Amino acid sequence: MKKIYLYGNWKMNMTRAETEGFYKDFAEQVTGSPLAAAMGKTLEAAVFPPFTSLGTAASAAKSLASCPAPILGAQNVYFEPKGAFTGEVSIAMLKDVGCTHVILGHSERRTIFGETDEFIARKVKAALDAGLVPVFCYGETLTEREGNAAFDVVSRQLRALSALSPAELEKIIYAYEPVWAIGTGKSATSAEAQEVCAYSKKLTGEMGASSAAVLYGGSVKPDNAKELLSMDAIDGALVGGASLKADTFLQIYKGYAGI
Ligand code: 13P
Repeated sequence: MKKIYLYGNWKMNMTRAETEGFYKDFAEQVTGSPLAAAMGKTLEAAVFPPFTSLGTAASAAKSLASCPAPILGAQNVYFEPKGAFTGEVSIAMLKDVGCTHVILGHSERRTIFGETDEFIARKVKAALDAGLVPVFCYGETLTEREGNAAFDVVSRQLRALSALSPAELEKIIYAYEPVWAIGTGKSATSAEAQEVCAYSKKLTGEMGASSAAVLYGGSVKPDNAKELLSMDAIDGALVGGASLKADTFLQIYKGYAGI
């Protein structure tokens, strides 16, 4: 069975108390179940809490006793090391709190906060230089899809990383998230997701990363996960809404693995 990346982007949700509750439920779900054996082998679970809950998540992970903890990542970072950048958080700060991964280029950052391909590429490079794993998000809007521009947009967004070396490109985890499928309840069909994820692999391959991991994100739920995760170009899921409860989050993998 292939390894499945099950990544949960909590977005602007989850207080510290809710984060503690998530970890408690996570441990209850995993301990003594086939999930415990899968974790770190056929299941790579990660959560991306908001900045204010990262410390709580790191402490909760340490107190899980025998239960393997999910990887910890942040939802954004700034590329400058320190200084007068009000409202921003540095890579060193993320590492200090226990993060190993960081989501970059999410469509909400691109559309609501105006982040450009170039700006995002600088963050990706800084994260890689510091040994953080970037989870690089990209994907087309509905207008772009309807205008038959999905592949051009995806190509432009991925090629914004073309200054990176093959070894650097290989370290990135790619997450194709069609904007029209995010938070809408309307997932891409498995064929649509497969098509763009396969294209992404081809493109990153041409850029030098021969075995890049490509996740799909956009309304992934327990009831559509099996079909999506069974597609050969899809290595996992970047889950928003359905990642806020440990039970639903883990069901996404359980349904796929038949456990
Ligand atoms: P939803 O699963 O809520 O559609 O969100 C997907 C997403 O944006 C993950 O980064």
